[in-house]
Amino acid sequence: DWRMDSFVEESIQAIRQKVGKGKVLCALSGGVDSSVAAVMLSKAVGNQLTCVFVDHGLLRKNEGDEVEAVFGPEGAYNLNFIRVNAQERFYERLKGVEEPESKRKIIGEEFIRVFEEEAKKIGAVDFLVQGTIYPDVVESGVGGESTVIKSHHNVGGLPDYVDFKEIIEPLRDLFKDEVRKAGLELGIPEYLVFRQPFPGPGLGIRIIGEVTAEKVKMVQDADAIWREEIANAGLDKKIGQYFAAITNMRSVGVMGDERTYDYAVALRAVTTTDFMTAESAEIPWEVIGKATSRIVNEVKHINRVLYDCTGKPPATIEFE
Ligand code: XMP
Repeated sequence: DWRMDSFVEESIQAIRQKVGKGKVLCALSGGVDSSVAAVMLSKAVGNQLTCVFVDHGLLRKNEGDEVEAVFGPEGAYNLNFIRVNAQERFYERLKGVEEPESKRKIIGEEFIRVFEEEAKKIGAVDFLVQGTIYPDVVESGVGGESTVIKSHHNVGGLPDYVDFKEIIEPLRDLFKDEVRKAGLELGIPEYLVFRQPFPGPGLGIRIIGEVTAEKVKMVQDADAIWREEIANAGLDKKIGQYFAAITNMRSVGVMGDERTYDYAVALRAVTTTDFMTAESAEIPWEVIGKATSRIVNEVKHINRVLYDCTGKPPATIEFE
């Protein structure tokens, strides 16, 4: 795509001009937007860029290591990469908290706190990178919905918790599909570029009720199996979003001669054009069946699997 090609080239030139010899800080989540923004900056200013990746312990299975493999010292980019393993801190703060908005708030606040601590260690920076894309700009502007259904912790005003002079938003004019094109142009691995959306609070809102390390492990394993079976069936490109969530329901089951009293996991898959509305995807029964038997066999303490048939509205895509 020659237009994306020149957009990327021109953006890199412009960033280089603007930054000069300055120091740049970027919060990297491993999502498409922050990854593309980070790579663009890294191509422009190399190791004047520091990326801070906060692992809040609510990422999908192996995700933290995957992000590190791409952006860390073994990866293809010449940037300063800091991975903060903050799992314990988040679990500690989430102990006993069941209410969805409280969980979102705690995760958002703790994220800022961790990032702020890292930023302090780095010292004064000149520029802060944000992966804001065009729809974010529109959504957070005036005239939007007045009812807050869920608080999205990654949309908001200028951060005041980091000492910096200026903000850089290289993707501010792009729609999502253009961000992906830019990502490919920049040579970012396809699995990162075409990743499905993953909420900022992560698995924290896919564990209904209290978050514990044990439940995180359960939902990670069930989710990995579900995603693998969807991909095996060749459905991954056809479905907007699909994941597993762990309910706070326990129910009676039987394994061998033993009675079990374990958790129920819910599988979700939706088709959507804009994530504002969505339909439950009609997954072939055999795919659901295969995933189900693998989950109950391979994941300890899950003895029941449910499929969510609800559209949005009245449900939302996520469970909390
Ligand atoms: P809901 O659950 O509101 O989700 O139907 C719509 C889309 O938004 C994603 N989502 C989030 N993304 N931070 C994000 O970056 C968040 O806090 C958040 N909450 C929901 C969700 O995965 C879906 O794609």
